[in-house]
Amino acid sequence: MKKLQEELIFKLKQVQKVFDTNTIIHTQPTITSIANYYKTNKLAYSFFANKDFIHVGISKNKKYSNKDLLEQAKFVDKYIKRLKTKQVLELATGRGANSEYLAKKHPNINFEAVDLPNGQIDFAFSKAKKLKNFHPKEGDYHDLSNYSKNTFDVIFIIEALCHSTNKKQVLREVRKLLKNNGVFIIFDGYRGKREDMMTKEELLAIKLTEKGMAVPNFDYYDDFKNKLLKSKFKILEEQDVSLLIIPTLKKFESQARLYFKIPPSLLRIINRFFSPIFIRNIISGYLLATLEKLQLSKYTILVVSKKN
Ligand SMILES: C[S@@+](CC[C@H](N)C(=O)[O-])C[C@H]1O[C@@H](n2cnc3c(N)ncnc32)[C@H](O)[C@@H]1O
Repeated sequence: MKKLQEELIFKLKQVQKVFDTNTIIHTQPTITSIANYYKTNKLAYSFFANKDFIHVGISKNKKYSNKDLLEQAKFVDKYIKRLKTKQVLELATGRGANSEYLAKKHPNINFEAVDLPNGQIDFAFSKAKKLKNFHPKEGDYHDLSNYSKNTFDVIFIIEALCHSTNKKQVLREVRKLLKNNGVFIIFDGYRGKREDMMTKEELLAIKLTEKGMAVPNFDYYDDFKNKLLKSKFKILEEQDVSLLIIPTLKKFESQARLYFKIPPSLLRIINRFFSPIFIRNIISGYLLATLEKLQLSKYTILVVSKKN
């Protein structure tokens, strides 16, 4: 632990030599800036994200492999089969890779999906042209009034609820659309420690990581679970897979290390030629593996259903 704390402090010092960390931690992502973040990073994601999956792999073998990116969709598939599903909705589908995989597997099930306009949803539209049962639409998951109530057997969201500043609103919307025996599956990252229990450095590292990824702030995990309960959901399944995402985070870390090998004075010049939205992402990539190992961040799968 002590070694990891030292590693975090070392990394923070490197970041502080290049970035105005105070400005970064005080930026407040909005819906428009979040869409812009995904638009600006389109090329970067094409390079780093594999097969259009914009999420981490769940590596059961402790070593990263591209097939680990399918684990989230495979998990959803388990519930699709179990519930004799007819209708599925993916919130924040990104490039549509998860729903495309599932829609191909289940040609008789209808897959709806939503993501913000002006981000990366054009990739999902291209995929949908080749499939009769995949229908992505532009929209904000805080307002799902375009969909009929009590319709969906499965609603899922992968690494995107963290972008919301009003999760209770999203949960209200999901509750309306879910059938009584339907499930809502959430794959996401959280803070693993309460803010008042963190050291100054830990909190700075967490905030930089959040803002680097256009996340207003990750919820402390127990707070999020309380939001679920207060929003009249009950937890059916809960898996902490924090350790299984470390191989992906290590990949991000080694890419970011290449950047931080460059002398800070040169980096400050280089940064001027790139959008801050792109460059700040490198900070998150650099810090995340250490935060996860220190259990300051965590990643879980939650399956919930409506409590009557
Ligand atoms: C990390 S990406 C994950 C994409 C996809 N779920 C995947 O696994 O490949 C997060 C996605 O959330 C979307 N997003 C963020 N806020 C949103 C909102 N309010 N409504 C709909 N989508 C949103 C972004 O546009 C982005 O595509």
